Amino acid sequence: MPDRPLLVTSALPYANGPLHLGHLAGAYLPADLYVRQQRLAGRDVVWVCGSDEHGAAIAIRARQEETSPQAIVDRYHAELKEAFAGFGIAFDVYGRTTSQTHRETSQSLFRSIEAAGGFVRQTSTQLYDPEAGLFLADRFVVGTCPVCGYDKAYGDQCENCGSTLAPDDLIEPSSTLSGARPERRETTHWFLPLGEMQPQLAEWIGTKEWKPNVLGQVRSWLDGGLSDRAMTRDLDWGVPVPPGVDGETDGKVLYVWFDAPIGYVSMTKEWAEAEGDAERWRRYWQVHPDGTEPELVHFIGKDNIVFHCLVFPATLMAANRAADAAGNAAQPDRPFVLPSNVPANEFLNLEGRKLSTSRGWAVWADEALAAFDADPLRYALAVGLPETKDADFTWADFQNRVNSELADVVGNFCNRALTFAERFCDNAVPELVGPSDADRQMLAALAAAPAEIGRAYQDVRLRDAVAQTVQIARLGNQYLQETEPWKTRKTDEQAMRNTIAVALQVCAGLGILLEPVVPGVAGRLREMLNLEGVRSSERAGTDGLGWDDAGRPLLEPGHALGTPGILVEKVEDEAVEAQRELLRTRAANASPESPTTTASGAEAAEPETPYAPLADEIVFDQFAPLDMRVGRIVAAEPHPNADKLLRFDVDLGFETRQVLSGVREHLAPEDLLGQRVVVVANLKPRTIRGLESNGMILFAEDRDGRLLLVTTDGEPGAIVK
Ligand code: 2FM
Ligand code: ZN
Repeated sequence: MPDRPLLVTSALPYANGPLHLGHLAGAYLPADLYVRQQRLAGRDVVWVCGSDEHGAAIAIRARQEETSPQAIVDRYHAELKEAFAGFGIAFDVYGRTTSQTHRETSQSLFRSIEAAGGFVRQTSTQLYDPEAGLFLADRFVVGTCPVCGYDKAYGDQCENCGSTLAPDDLIEPSSTLSGARPERRETTHWFLPLGEMQPQLAEWIGTKEWKPNVLGQVRSWLDGGLSDRAMTRDLDWGVPVPPGVDGETDGKVLYVWFDAPIGYVSMTKEWAEAEGDAERWRRYWQVHPDGTEPELVHFIGKDNIVFHCLVFPATLMAANRAADAAGNAAQPDRPFVLPSNVPANEFLNLEGRKLSTSRGWAVWADEALAAFDADPLRYALAVGLPETKDADFTWADFQNRVNSELADVVGNFCNRALTFAERFCDNAVPELVGPSDADRQMLAALAAAPAEIGRAYQDVRLRDAVAQTVQIARLGNQYLQETEPWKTRKTDEQAMRNTIAVALQVCAGLGILLEPVVPGVAGRLREMLNLEGVRSSERAGTDGLGWDDAGRPLLEPGHALGTPGILVEKVEDEAVEAQRELLRTRAANASPESPTTTASGAEAAEPETPYAPLADEIVFDQFAPLDMRVGRIVAAEPHPNADKLLRFDVDLGFETRQVLSGVREHLAPEDLLGQRVVVVANLKPRTIRGLESNGMILFAEDRDGRLLLVTTDGEPGAIVK
């Protein structure tokens, strides 16, 4: 059966701030790796993204800067587009939600859902600025924070102490538009009845085998019971609620989280139009007349999970129901497909601290690209993607990864093979005659690579995919060490020629296998090998050599090679020190009061919440009864009947015990296996959902409520005191 058409999306970044490495690691680089590999494998794939140009944040920013929202989004749309291109992020289309196509698409979906009774209208009171004559989004209200006394707190959050607020909590509230004291007035909005749709959503989610961090979050939303969500706002910036729908639509726009995901559809339409086949978008969004269902994969950061796994699917379900209800049997509109996978990433921290644009704690894409090529940055980010838990980007790690892996393993292997061929084999590929076991084994490892690495890409285990790719070069180096062509050159020339023939075939394979991760390096390598005809990883197509070809010998005996050179430049100490210095200076100069402007899938830019104050003093006798021991986790798995719990077997030296912990949303079992942790060992056993827990493992809770491992070097059974 041919592959299903595949539509990939990356979260649409708000066009109100520049791109940083946290964004890239969240929704863009992972998708780029995935899509490039799928294109090389000949998959019929389209990847869409674009700027999210609506929402209250952009409207506020414009008022603060005394400019228009349009001017802001024009500026950042251009900047974002350029930064993505600089990193080699090869979308098929990068659109904008202010386009005409998007306005029509989102209005038309809204209208048909409305016409079929898919929304409920609810009236509530909201803050209103009597002077400006406008309803106010919570962010448009400022006042004094009841928690810390900061006098510029917003109606939804205090940027000083991080407290979540409601506008009514503020002392002396005033409108940011006019300074007037807001009043409460009635307003009516269109709500998506998520409460009513919950059974349908739960049933659909129940069939999914998605990443545990994604399903964990979705289940906890479902467990809490979904509430209806307003899909319109009183705002003067956004897609207007379409005229003609029943009710008062004046001054109302579609909620940014209603229109933005529909942007994925609009942008696919724009792509199709540019391809000269305006109807082709349907191939990737709608069930085909023969029943084929395209695949839809959303790459996002974890803060967008609820919208992509529940709210947007609910919108699509409502649209499908509306199409059904329209009942035009002669020309029924085909149903939209729902996402087949949402491989959301966790967050990327920077030098051990949470990224914060307002605090200057971020690496901007343009600054990074001014100092380094895209490939080393892509590589270091790819090997450290926050796939299962938050990850940390440090400049030391970046340097180390690039120098000791990309340069010393990949670059060095290819360089050894190519320079040897140049010096001792007339810069041509020798013929393989009577290969040894080592030669055969090396070729067998290469032959197995496309399928194995391809599986990791297919499953969106991208860190694995990258590690396995580098492993091929590592095997290549070991193979050269073992076959010692510098010795056989003098003792057995054919053996030397065989070694070089095999090593060059491995280089050729790497010229394809490296392409998704470091397309620049892969291209240079192919040039040095004089290897032509590899299909593009930037456009879907089936011409030329593809992913699977990487496993077979691609170079004919006698093939003339190009000019060898340095494949990967090392990163110098001074270059990374300059980046650290830049970060320090910016952080020192940033005022924590400056507004947070960039919200996105990959960034948690909110100010830091203070940790709870110290608990009341205790005396030693209150502490002494605790018996804490070092335990080694020898088994870790999900609790069969509880979504939030993991079940562990912990070796305490004198016995192995079962312990349950509520950390499933925070830590993956495989990250815990083998770790030495601290266990409260004399806690009375408790049974939770049918399993007994005999003790408690200690974890650290960070300011966002995430649980982190507390590990020790002590041996199992050792007393912690
Ligand atoms: O969080 C954000 O940055 C949003 N602009 C993401 C939107 S994703 C999609 F739905 F458009
Ligand atoms: Zn405060």
